[in-house]
Amino acid sequence: MGRQLWNKGFEPDKMIEQFTVGADRDLDLRLARYDVMGSLAHIKMLESIGLLTADELAVLTAELERVAEMIERGEFVIEEGVEDVHSQVELLLTARLGDVGKKIHSGRSRNDQVLVDLKLFFRDEVSRIAAAVQRLFDRLLEVSERYKDVLMPGYTHLQVAMPSSFGLWAGAYAESLADDVLLLGAAYDVANQNPLGSAAGYGSSFPLDREMTTRLLGFSSPHYNVVAAQMSRGKTERALASAVSAVASTLGHLAADVCMWMCSNFGFVSFPDELTTGSSIMPHKKNPDVFEIMRGKCNRLQSVPNELALLTANLPLGYNRDLQLLKDIMFPATDTLVECLDMATFMLAHIRIREGILDDPMYDYIFTVEDVNRLVLGGMPFRDAYRLIGTQVQEGTYRPTREVHHTHLGSIGCLGNDRIASKMHERLDRMTAK
Ligand code: ARG
Repeated sequence: MGRQLWNKGFEPDKMIEQFTVGADRDLDLRLARYDVMGSLAHIKMLESIGLLTADELAVLTAELERVAEMIERGEFVIEEGVEDVHSQVELLLTARLGDVGKKIHSGRSRNDQVLVDLKLFFRDEVSRIAAAVQRLFDRLLEVSERYKDVLMPGYTHLQVAMPSSFGLWAGAYAESLADDVLLLGAAYDVANQNPLGSAAGYGSSFPLDREMTTRLLGFSSPHYNVVAAQMSRGKTERALASAVSAVASTLGHLAADVCMWMCSNFGFVSFPDELTTGSSIMPHKKNPDVFEIMRGKCNRLQSVPNELALLTANLPLGYNRDLQLLKDIMFPATDTLVECLDMATFMLAHIRIREGILDDPMYDYIFTVEDVNRLVLGGMPFRDAYRLIGTQVQEGTYRPTREVHHTHLGSIGCLGNDRIASKMHERLDRMTAK
């Protein structure tokens, strides 16, 4: 006999079962500990409204704690013929406790159960991503400080434009990440609401104490409206995907810079041999495969919001099984992002930066604005100074003074890294304080 919770005495077709369960037996393992947390809160609440006796609560709690230990030891599996994590936990309880186990599902449905699991899981995933972002942020500021005096070309239109520095470059990505953290905070807030009690999507005739489960699970508030609670499946993922996409866009951009600058025509940065890859035919090659894979993965991650939007477009209100596939998209996405963030943090610890790049005469014109400004500071109107230097360039007589003197906040000579760090920490703290 099949072990579906909904089994009514007939055997579902094997192919149908495989097709509908899909990757759940694997993916749901990550939800297992949250499923138990949700159940522990649910039964406490059931006892408080008289649907379980104190003894039943004690027995169920002890058994759920045993399941939690199994999960932490890595011994929990979703068995053949069992559809998902929710079914597996309930089946373990009934196998051990008989009728008491069968009482746990009063007033809830797998629809709000999976929602509560996902909300708890995503809350933790946001924190895991935020921690990885912070590690990269710290590394970037370290690179920025270490190389704050090393100049490099700044480009516009990919044409040599004005002096920049590696300090400015690394600090820019750090500050960009601080903005991405705002989106992570928003994703955290969206996830941090309690859907439990919405049951199949329309509530229950039991007098469920939803404030109590909200408190027990540490959510900031319930999703009050039971239909809104169900609608949050997909919406929560979209909020998280926006944040993932934002971080991926920052990191992908950084990876693209590194790929270009490792190109021998630039040669601005390099890495120790063991961190580069080779060619099977060209013996001299040291390729930036790490940053190419990172760029590719980060580009793919930016399609996640689209994938989610298409998957959920125009679904009828209420639960639809399509929603199960959100897990297939979202779970690998957060893993990939954390993997890329950690790889970037590792690689940047070993980055080698070329000094004296701007000494090459090919960059002479990068100093024109400096020289115009020097004339202006000496009293010449800006447009006259611009023409004077412009004519020198035109006639081939321009000779740069090569002196760079930027002192305003956020410029080469005054990076403001300490302020960027405070901004980041304040945003991270706001998120973890919730
Ligand atoms: N595995 C399902 C999901 O992720 C669990 C909910 C099943 N609910 C249902 N009504 N079939 O969506």
